[in-house]
Amino acid sequence: MTKRILFVCLGNICRSPSAEGVTRALAGSRDLMLDSAGTSGWHIGEPPYGEMRRAAGARGYDLDTLRARQFARSDFESFDLILAMDDQNLADIEALRPPGNDTPVRLFTDYAPETGADHVPDPYYTRDFDGALDLVETCARGLLASLD
Ligand code: 4NP
Repeated sequence: MTKRILFVCLGNICRSPSAEGVTRALAGSRDLMLDSAGTSGWHIGEPPYGEMRRAAGARGYDLDTLRARQFARSDFESFDLILAMDDQNLADIEALRPPGNDTPVRLFTDYAPETGADHVPDPYYTRDFDGALDLVETCARGLLASLD
């Protein structure tokens, strides 16, 4: 059965679209429905951030067709697993959880314990787009391994 996974960050233009694109590229034949969203509505309708697209593109991940949208309460029903990029994202997601809903919400970095990372640092601020992609790739591999 199709597993539906949503990646969430703040703006939906750097970390979560990268997580979506990288996971899709590494997923192989797994039956997944992947999407991403931002807890803010600041960039609705925009493609991923230019430098993020370029850094991802250099590794063969095409993020160009993705468009930002805002996380919605209905996403708790539409997805089987919601993955936040940091603790603030996680808290903002949990604040919208409908009563009685038990969809798991976890940190993406939970799937890469060997890195010691407890969040995906935001390259919009750090400017370390390659460092973010390195971590996103490790998390994506761990996530995919957890599904097998
Ligand atoms: P993201 O990064 O949450 O990884 O998409 C950000 C992008 C834009 C802004 C903040 C974070 N912003 O303030 O516009």
